[in-house]
Amino acid sequence: MPSVQGAGRAAGDVGSGSPDGFPVLTDDLGILYGGDYNPEQWDPQVWREDAWLMRAAEVNLVTVGVFSWARYEPAPGVRDFAWLDEVLEVLAAQGVGVDLATPTASPPAWLGRRYPETLPVDVDGVRLVAGSRNHFSPASRVYRDHALAITRDLVSRYAGHPAVRMWHVGNELGQVCYGEESAARFRQWLQGRYRTIEELNHAWGTAVWSQHYASFDEILPPRRTVYHVNPTQALDFRRYSSDLLLDLYREQRDLVRAVDGTRPVTTNLMGFFPLADYWSWAPHLDVVADDSYPDPGDPGSPADAALTGDLMRSLGGGRPWMLMEAAVGAVSWRDHNLPKSPARSRLEALQAVARGADGVCYFQWRASRAGAERFHSAMLPHAGPDTRVHEGVRHLGADLRRLRAAVGTRVPARVVLLFDWESWWAAEEQARPTARLRVLDRLRAWYRPLWDVGVAVDLAAPGSDLSGYDVVLVPQSYLLSEVAAQEIERAARAGAQLVVGPFSGVADGNAQVRPGRFPVLLRDVLGVSGEEWVALPDAGVPLRVGPSFARSTSGDDDAPRATILGELLRSDGAEVLATFATGHLAGLPALTRHVLPDGGGSAWYLGTVPPAALLARVVGAALDASGVAGVLPGLADLPDVEAVRRGELLFVLNHGAAPVTVPVPAPATDLLAGARCRDVVEVPAEGAVVLAADPTESP
Ligand code: GAL
Repeated sequence: MPSVQGAGRAAGDVGSGSPDGFPVLTDDLGILYGGDYNPEQWDPQVWREDAWLMRAAEVNLVTVGVFSWARYEPAPGVRDFAWLDEVLEVLAAQGVGVDLATPTASPPAWLGRRYPETLPVDVDGVRLVAGSRNHFSPASRVYRDHALAITRDLVSRYAGHPAVRMWHVGNELGQVCYGEESAARFRQWLQGRYRTIEELNHAWGTAVWSQHYASFDEILPPRRTVYHVNPTQALDFRRYSSDLLLDLYREQRDLVRAVDGTRPVTTNLMGFFPLADYWSWAPHLDVVADDSYPDPGDPGSPADAALTGDLMRSLGGGRPWMLMEAAVGAVSWRDHNLPKSPARSRLEALQAVARGADGVCYFQWRASRAGAERFHSAMLPHAGPDTRVHEGVRHLGADLRRLRAAVGTRVPARVVLLFDWESWWAAEEQARPTARLRVLDRLRAWYRPLWDVGVAVDLAAPGSDLSGYDVVLVPQSYLLSEVAAQEIERAARAGAQLVVGPFSGVADGNAQVRPGRFPVLLRDVLGVSGEEWVALPDAGVPLRVGPSFARSTSGDDDAPRATILGELLRSDGAEVLATFATGHLAGLPALTRHVLPDGGGSAWYLGTVPPAALLARVVGAALDASGVAGVLPGLADLPDVEAVRRGELLFVLNHGAAPVTVPVPAPATDLLAGARCRDVVEVPAEGAVVLAADPTESP
């Protein structure tokens, strides 16, 4: 059976893969390991040294040609592929596979000079120029035609090449264009969505501020305006921009598939990237691939990177994904680029595998001497192979080989977090009760208590079938469709524990506020409803936790303070577990629980932003009520330790600076050290163990 599989096909997709997805690299290669390789920056004798060193490091896949357009097509219509023939031969000779990229992320300078309309226009109407990268408008037909022409020739030449294992379209698709051609496409997109201009006027609420449109021709992208822009117009422009980028991807992908119907095609996503709705993209990717650059200076980054890994796994419906880019050491694009120890880099790689990745690749193989990324770390630093970083790279190659048993396996989860881009976009448009309520902050805060105790979690878009989950967490789903509300309610009434956070279910699909006591579509199941959103003072507001939810022993969250936002709520049957102690909302509910009849679960509602400890108690209570426990007992007392079960393997990752000792549930072998363990095992500082239960011994 294939292991890194397609994320599934949308109806009508072009391609000839089997229902199980595309043939898989990992059956043959094991965990994919490698990085971006930019041979055009080097002389041919360096390619040979590189390929040899790759083999020595057990690299089995490199992404080639991401930025090679100017080299392939130095002048309009001219082709130069001879150098790539040689590169592929050199790599193939050392058994290194190639993820061959369409070079369309960085057009040659002549394209923008000849056809200025291919260049992107920003929100102020400024046309951006060549000299960096990504200087194209995804809306430009001329750009697209040139991109297709070079892609066609590249793919036709290399489709049968034994080194080529996979195709990679563009790079981090994320461009937005406000220019004329984009405006015209936006109007077409709107016409497709609304059919008539009156329907659009209704959806956008153009009666406000005299924004009525007499025809689609009058509509513009949300360029710089005098004051707040229409929020539905802004939301639709985001939807359109995401669809446009997906369309650009699909155009090149279809061309690749028409020539090569067997190898997987992907593009590299960027985690919680704000400009593309990856739920809508995922069905079009044969392998979900992500670029992830956690900040070594941010103590929250291990948990955030885990959340991103869970998103990637969830985008593919639980199938393995791949880490397409990461940094082996420091990046060069932050203001102050902290380094990473080889141990930390290895730990991040193992974390990706723990969270479902069947591939770990880096930007980039050999450090550039020139150009904007000359100070970005690489698998082979300027100082050469005799370096701490490169030694780490070789060790990681061996580690990943030892984890072959992980390939193709899944991470089972009984908890789901709802998250979607449309709601994120709509919730953060201008002019709302508070700009401090940020969707990703809330998502991360709700994820943290799960990470702390080693409870696996999937992410799902509202509207998905939630019936397989015992705990459903809705940190902030501002824009909620009727279907999504029904699925949430159905899960709770069928026995799941449901926890909903503030500013959820506020708006409909047009980002218009649903009239009535909020959250309109969920208030029955929650047994609570509200009427005002109240920004809280900077110092926060004390909460009074009632006896039924108070701790038995005193702790530092006995006088928790709510921050950012409070809601004026009334219980319509739910038990009130905490109230606001002072201020505008004094005495009113802040936390409620509605026990549902006839085998239903409980529906919890948090009408404010509680401190982390109280949030952890709420989430913990929901886990307890449904009998969901972490994969390793005692983890809550080890704040830097992460534990994940993937397939039959238990990954224990220590992100802290001191070694820890953890219990071993059953006699096992640590696949990394090759050591048998029973009862307990020590996990080194910034280290990991991967335990495979020992079949020859009984517990
Ligand atoms: C990514 C990009 C790579 C490289 C890397 C540096 O966003 O895809 O080409 O620039 O960042 O961290």
